[in-house]
Amino acid sequence: MMNSRVAMAAWWVCGLLPLLLLAVAADGDSEPLIRLPTENGHAPAPAPGPAASAPEERVTKWAVLVAGSSGYENYRHQADVCHAYQILKKGGLKDENIVVFMYDDIANSPENPRRGVVINHPKGKDVYHGVPKDYTGEHVTAKNLYAVLLGNKTAVTGGSRKVINSKPNDHIFIYYTDHGGAGSLGMPNVPFVYAGDFIKVLRQKHASKSYSKMIIYVEACESGSIFEGLMPQDHNIYVTTAANAEESSWAAYCPGMEVPPPSEYKTCLGDAYSVSWMEDSETHNLKKESIKQQYEVVKARTAPPNESSIGSHVMEYGDKTFKGDMLFLYQGFDPAKSYSSYFRQRLPSLKGAINQRDADILFMWKKYEQLNGGSEEKQRALTEIKETVLHRKHLDSSIDFIGKLVFGFEKGPSVLDAARGSGQPLVDDWDCLKTMVRIFESQCGSLTQYGMKHMRAFANICNNGVSEAEMKEASISACDDYDMGKWSPLVRGHSA
Ligand SMILES: *[C@@H]1O[C@H](CO)[C@@H](O)[C@H](O)[C@H]1NC(C)=O
Ligand SMILES: *[C@@H]1O[C@H](CO)[C@@H](O)[C@H](O)[C@H]1NC(C)=O
Repeated sequence: MMNSRVAMAAWWVCGLLPLLLLAVAADGDSEPLIRLPTENGHAPAPAPGPAASAPEERVTKWAVLVAGSSGYENYRHQADVCHAYQILKKGGLKDENIVVFMYDDIANSPENPRRGVVINHPKGKDVYHGVPKDYTGEHVTAKNLYAVLLGNKTAVTGGSRKVINSKPNDHIFIYYTDHGGAGSLGMPNVPFVYAGDFIKVLRQKHASKSYSKMIIYVEACESGSIFEGLMPQDHNIYVTTAANAEESSWAAYCPGMEVPPPSEYKTCLGDAYSVSWMEDSETHNLKKESIKQQYEVVKARTAPPNESSIGSHVMEYGDKTFKGDMLFLYQGFDPAKSYSSYFRQRLPSLKGAINQRDADILFMWKKYEQLNGGSEEKQRALTEIKETVLHRKHLDSSIDFIGKLVFGFEKGPSVLDAARGSGQPLVDDWDCLKTMVRIFESQCGSLTQYGMKHMRAFANICNNGVSEAEMKEASISACDDYDMGKWSPLVRGHSA
C-alpha cells in the first residue's frame, strides 16, 4: 500500500499523526453524480422549510465569502472563495448581495504560472474574473467581517462598504475557508476571528430580525470547535464544518497527490471539504437537492475511510429543522448555466490530500526544488524554510515548556491537550483566552497561523484558572532567550 508516492505524502495531521491516504469516498465511485440537463426547466420545487416560508420572489439571497489567508502558498483558500462566487453568481445571486473578503494577492502574484487566472480544479477554468473586490488586502479583517454581517456600514473600515443589508424574509449563506485552531479562524490581518465574538455577532444578527434562515459552511482545522457547545439551535442558522473540534481539515489537488494540479503549479488548488461542496453544487440540480443531501455527499467525500487514515469528519451544528430545504434557496440555481462541461465526469477522489498546516511548507519545498542550484534565490528559499520550521519548533516547544512549568512535568502535556466533552465550549472565558494568547506572543513571538494549533492549550490554561501573572512568568522563562526577529508582535501585531 505504501508506495513511494504515498510516502511522499506523509505530512502530518494538525501536528498529531503521520498522514496516510485519504481514500476515495465510496459515493464518488458508485453513483453517477452528474444529472443530465434534461432535468432542467422543471417548475421550482416548493420550499419545504418550516411553514410560513416567504414566496421565493420576496426572498433576497445574500452571501458572505471569506478567504482567511494571504500569500501564494495559501493559493487554495482564495481559489475556493473565487469559485464559490462563480457558483452563486451563475445561480442568480446579484453582486450587490454577495460580499467577498479575499486578500487578492494570488492572481497577479509573480509565483502564479497563469498570471491573472485562478483555478480551483486541475482542469478548472478561471474563477477569478468578475469576483467583486469588496474587502481586499489590509481590509480583510475580523472587525469588517462582523460589521458586514451585522449590516453596519458605519463600523466598516475601507473596502467597498458593501454590507449584508438583509430583510426579515431573506436568506444568508456564509462560506469561510482558511487555517483555524480551536475556537479561532485565521484572518490575513490580525486579530483572528474568535468563536466567542463570532457567535455573539450571529446572536446580534438574530436579535435584529434581519433574516429568515442562514446557512454557514466553514473549512478550517478544528472548525467544529467554533460552534461546539456555543451555537444556538433556535436561531434559524444551520452550520456545517469541514472538521470536528479536534482534527485537521485537508487541502486538495496538491503537487504529488493522486489528483495533482497541472505540472506548472507548485501549490494546492483547493481544500477537500470546500471543493466537495462546490463540485457537488456544480453538478446537481439545486432545485432538487436538499441541504441534507449535500451535507451527506460532502461528509462521505471528506471522511477518512477508517479511523487510522486521513480525512476529516464533517459536522453539523445549529438548527437542523430546515435541512430539507432545497439548496437553490441559498446558493441559487440557473439550469441553463449550471452544468459546466469540465465536471461532466466522475468527481475525482481526494486521495493524498494534505493537512492544512503543512500545505505552505510543501509549497516552499516545491519552490526550492525547482530553483537552480547555487542561485541566490535558492539560498533565500532555503533560509525561508529554515526560519519557518525553526519558529514552528520554537512555538511547539515553548508551549510545552509553559505547560510543564504551570501544571508540572508529568501533567503538563495532558492538561494542555485535554478536550472537553462534546457539547461543551472550548473555553468559558473568551477574554481570558485572548489575554493568554497576547501574553504568550509578547514574550515568545507571533503565533502565526501555524501556531493556532495550540489554541486549545491556551484555553486549558484558562479553564484551569492560571492567573495572568503566572502565565507571564512562565512565558518569560520559556522564551527569554529567543530572538523573535520578524516574528515579533511589534512587527506583526497580536493575533488576539
Ligand atoms: C454600528 O457601528 C458603530 C461603530 O462601531 C456603532 O457605534 C453603532 O452602535 C453600530 N450600530 C448598530 C445598529 O449596531
Ligand atoms: C485504513 O485505511 C488505510 C488507507 O486506506 C489502509 O491502509 C488500512 O489498511 C485501513 N485499515 C483498516 C483497519 O481497514
